[in-house]
Amino acid sequence: MRYLTIALTKGRLAGQTMALLEEIGVFCEEMKDPSSRKLIFTNEELKLKFFLAKGPDVPTYVEYGAADIGIVGKDILMEEERKVYEVLDLGFGKCRMCVCGREESREKLLHQEQIRVATKYPNIAKDYFYNEKNQTVELIKLNGSIELAPIVGLAEVIVDIVETGSTLRDNGLVVLEEICPLSARVAVNPVSMRMENDRIMWLLEQIGSRLQKENA
Ligand code: PRP
Repeated sequence: MRYLTIALTKGRLAGQTMALLEEIGVFCEEMKDPSSRKLIFTNEELKLKFFLAKGPDVPTYVEYGAADIGIVGKDILMEEERKVYEVLDLGFGKCRMCVCGREESREKLLHQEQIRVATKYPNIAKDYFYNEKNQTVELIKLNGSIELAPIVGLAEVIVDIVETGSTLRDNGLVVLEEICPLSARVAVNPVSMRMENDRIMWLLEQIGSRLQKENA
């Protein structure tokens, strides 16, 4: 039997995913060693392979079939627009994609003045402002600490993830508009979905019914 390969988003999402998999009897002990720099792990009994990748790369591995399944945030699936099937909402990693800035910038947003928008998510921001709001903006791509942009005057507003809201609060910023809710999703390669349908469906059903029990 060939290995079914699962790409995990490095970091907290991977930990939460493995905890959920353990609840359905899928274990991978070697992934738990914090001193190890290993990137790929196996479960020989179930013929599963797991690897850890940077979030934005997970849909790429899945689209090309290097991974059959990927666990990744909805933000990344929206931004990357890869040809993968999004099949399940895992319900954890919940947060919101928002337009944020100083309270004073609310007026500018409302009156559709040409403003600068800094973001790690240019595709999501473009779609929101151009297609949903019909508003022309100047997009500036950044790679992290996006909250800096309105503080140092690089942009009026940002499009970014808000989880607890503490980064905004600590920097004198507020949510001005909400774009959409986000959470961790399961993405599947379309060819794998056909070729490995039984095993993938088994896994999805196990996870699905576990999540249902937890939410009951
Ligand atoms: C994310 C996001 C916000 C923050 C939101 O950044 O970009 O900055 O978390 O979380 P909060 O609402 O709970 O404060 P992340 O820590 O992933 O790092 P980054 O700034 O490098 O994107």
